[in-house]
Amino acid sequence: MTTTTTETVPVTGAVGTAHTRIEGRDKVTGAARYAAEVPLAGLAHGWLVGSTIARGRIRSLDPAPVLAMPGVLAVLHHGNAQALESDYASPMGKPDPALQLFQHDRVPYAGWPVALVVAETSEQAREAAEALVVEYDEEPHDVAFAAGRPEAYVPAGPAHSPSEAGKGDLAAGLAASAVVVDEEYTTPEEHHHPMEPHAATAYWAAGRLEIIDGNQGSIYVAQELARLFALDPSTVRVRSEHVGGGFGSKGARPPQVAAAMAATVLQRPVRVVLTRRQMFSLTGYRSPTIQRVRLGADPDGRLRAVDHEGLNQTSTVHEFVERSADVPRAMYETEALHSVSRVIRLDVPTPTWMRAPGEAPGSFALECALDELAARCGLDPIALRVRNEPEVGPLSGLPYSSRRLLECFEEGARRFGWAGRDPRPGVRREGRWLLGTGTAAASFPTLAGPSTAAVTAEADGDYTVRITAADIGTGARTALTLVAADELGVAPDRVRVRIGDSDFGQAMLAGGSAGTRSWAWAVTLAARSLREQLALGGSIPPEGITVRSDTAEALAALPRRERHAFGAQFAEVAVDVATGEVRVRRMLGIFAAGRIVNPLTARSQLVGGMIWGLSMALHEEAVRDERWGSHVGADLAGYHVAANADVPVVEADWVDDPDEQDPVGIKGIGEVGIVGAAAAIANAVWHATGVRHRHLPIRPDRVLTAGAGDLG
Ligand code: MOS
Repeated sequence: MTTTTTETVPVTGAVGTAHTRIEGRDKVTGAARYAAEVPLAGLAHGWLVGSTIARGRIRSLDPAPVLAMPGVLAVLHHGNAQALESDYASPMGKPDPALQLFQHDRVPYAGWPVALVVAETSEQAREAAEALVVEYDEEPHDVAFAAGRPEAYVPAGPAHSPSEAGKGDLAAGLAASAVVVDEEYTTPEEHHHPMEPHAATAYWAAGRLEIIDGNQGSIYVAQELARLFALDPSTVRVRSEHVGGGFGSKGARPPQVAAAMAATVLQRPVRVVLTRRQMFSLTGYRSPTIQRVRLGADPDGRLRAVDHEGLNQTSTVHEFVERSADVPRAMYETEALHSVSRVIRLDVPTPTWMRAPGEAPGSFALECALDELAARCGLDPIALRVRNEPEVGPLSGLPYSSRRLLECFEEGARRFGWAGRDPRPGVRREGRWLLGTGTAAASFPTLAGPSTAAVTAEADGDYTVRITAADIGTGARTALTLVAADELGVAPDRVRVRIGDSDFGQAMLAGGSAGTRSWAWAVTLAARSLREQLALGGSIPPEGITVRSDTAEALAALPRRERHAFGAQFAEVAVDVATGEVRVRRMLGIFAAGRIVNPLTARSQLVGGMIWGLSMALHEEAVRDERWGSHVGADLAGYHVAANADVPVVEADWVDDPDEQDPVGIKGIGEVGIVGAAAAIANAVWHATGVRHRHLPIRPDRVLTAGAGDLG
């Protein structure tokens, strides 16, 4: 018995309807293979050896004893490694020298890869790697991140967004202000630590270098490897079907390069997996920040002057700037504005993008400063933000594509129960707990990157979408299925979305909260023209009918706008005055973040960001021992992240905010959830205790040292 379906009425409405993850069953049953789990015949295992000093040279490295150990196949190091290309520009700028594995004897930071030991088993490789003796000529190192260091400089930044920018007369604005807030805020070094550690497998097949890894953009990794190894790009293929989290850390990293090098030497598949300890030095992190925020306002809270200065660290070998000072450029109306990010080079690993790079620490400083201003003006914190709502971008002068920040505050205040809040700090007690509530604004740019997609009408009536997207846990695969289904006018179960394969062509990476937006755009264009083609009639040949799209032109034609997702964060905390413990009791985030494709996974994204904000506010802090230049407690016991018991009721919802210039209406939700969350908690701690905490995390010892206002 067969069923013939002839679609007469197009099916739509998949977008906007909750849908469980397409690969959810595979993930929970273990059928989904992550990078380190894909079985391969003849697989060898590589183990990276990191430097134990923070600066100097390798004096000697003797592989002979290690090569005699059981199962050991090779030791790659600067004395025998193949030469790699370094003279190229990647789409992200100059290549990170950490990818130039084993090219010289210099060590620029602790944990720098100095060798790869390859063996038959992972255990043998690890045993041998730990036995490898490397001697160094150590030089004095400097890992002391601090304010006021004369070496700090202002990096140029991209032409469209210089590191230093502003308008108006800041000094005059501050001088004319009746109320001035001038405070320093700091955030510590923070790490992404996706649940799936970085891993890569490499092998040669039919003249092509095949890589299986976990990444945020297979085409980017493939192109980087092609450049490094001077290979024709068509001979490198990178696949990354399932990714256990990325958050900015999963680009081209030492594992892919090391695996490719060893696979080339041994002519057999080689897998390199990082330990969590290695991830502390080899996969990037968020730079610590020291930020000075100055706000000048009239007595009624109207801003006259905003100055945001951020200091970050980078390595001595590569420049990465955490642009925390950018946040006010698009947030509040003011006559004078100054924003500058400075950076200092230290003997530390290079930081990188980490969920809401810039915005996460920057919003902590700015949104806490606004709370301080509100208190000094005797204004409700939401009223202060209403008073300073801009008509156009404060720096750019451009209109907003849409800005529904105040609707977020309105809806959030209603649901959180903000009305009637007693503004006085330190007056609510419940047993040994002091209670308080706080709020903060969130924003994150709406971006898109050129992407191509192919959509095939199969002979059996189903559809296949191919796009080099990466689902790093966001639910992108599912979202694209819904987008394609609506555009094709069929039910989602008729659409198969294949992702994570560089052979599918150029596409945006999963970054900048722009993955799903960029890919959905490409899928929409391809599906639309396929549907038009099918409407002309005719039969579908056995190989199907495939239509390709490229969004480059459409993106180039977009008018210039201030494009952002927005949100309002609310938190209620209880502070134990005896132990200094801060417990978050509940959080609410209301967002205006474009059309929501899949409410189920969107909520997870936003809640996940907010929980990270909680973790940032109270727990996360990587501590570097200045004597050794490396971390103390480089594991998830020493690096404390919020656990279940720390996470209370966290609710996220949204107001309707479709982006009018996006074919699906998407803005992007990957990062806005963390923005402002830490500030809302810090502001709530002030409301509870009467003490401002300007240094994250708000640890019990800091709460105890600071006391608790008059009630402490
Ligand atoms: Mo995200 S930090 O843009 O990968």
